[in-house]
Amino acid sequence: MLLIVIRSFLATKIKYKAAAPACSLADDYLGNVINLRETLDMANLPVFTTERLILRGLTEADAPAYEKNFVDYEVISQLAFAVPWPYPAGGVLDYIRHQIIPRQGNDRWVWGILVKEQPSEIIGVVDLWRSGTPENRGFWLGRKYWGKGIMTEAVFPVMDYAFDVLGFESLFFSNALGNERSRRVKEKTGARFLRTEPGKFVNPLYTEREIWELTKPLWREFKSQQKICR
Ligand SMILES: CC(C)(COP(=O)(O)OP(=O)(O)OC[C@H]1O[C@@H](n2cnc3c(N)ncnc32)[C@H](O)[C@@H]1OP(=O)(O)O)[C@@H](O)C(=O)NCCC(=O)NCCS
Repeated sequence: MLLIVIRSFLATKIKYKAAAPACSLADDYLGNVINLRETLDMANLPVFTTERLILRGLTEADAPAYEKNFVDYEVISQLAFAVPWPYPAGGVLDYIRHQIIPRQGNDRWVWGILVKEQPSEIIGVVDLWRSGTPENRGFWLGRKYWGKGIMTEAVFPVMDYAFDVLGFESLFFSNALGNERSRRVKEKTGARFLRTEPGKFVNPLYTEREIWELTKPLWREFKSQQKICR
């Protein structure tokens, strides 16, 4: 009996997907099964799989792919002033070794993003940390992967994990005023805009930053609306 109920539920889901193309974000997400493996990966983080992506903890072995996709002024110029430019040789390995690994799974969680079709190379990162400045999350993606909805897809399991497992009640995000791509990811994933304030970025033309908040209730509401939309 239970099997029949589950089968008919799955069949309904598939029909919904076909019938509601306007709700592409929800389709992408609900097509994804977040696979929170029972065992943590080598980096002490859970591995998530989404429709197109694998997210797993960063390790030192990721340094060459990280460097290849990250050390690009188009990517780094959008980031906070603390990131050096020109980026120093060997800086990525040093950063992973000294800034990420010791905190990984403690007060910081840094997932490398891989596409399932090419699972040997990280193409970007989602970074979550406990003590906000005020933000608690950062992300970047190699330039050739922009504009395909990859970051929007990647943040879903991370937000679920932050609220449901790590116990965050509220998360703050920020972006340079003028970084429309980053702003759009926030808009598309339920965050609410709070304010604009002075900010310093690698690109000196950016002088202000936007601050956003995503609370646990907002996230729940956002996700439930996505389901209604289907
Ligand atoms: C910000 C970033 C992670 C976005 O990743 P992404 O996978 O390209 O994001 P998505 O494809 O999920 O969404 C991008 C959205 O911006 C829109 N967009 C792209 N270029 C744009 C532009 N010039 N102006 C306005 N919107 C733009 C896209 O159309 C898309 O929105 P849509 O789905 O409604 O069409 C990526 O651009 C990046 O790594 N940039 C450099 C580093 C960075 O800015 N990090 C964030 C610092 S706060």
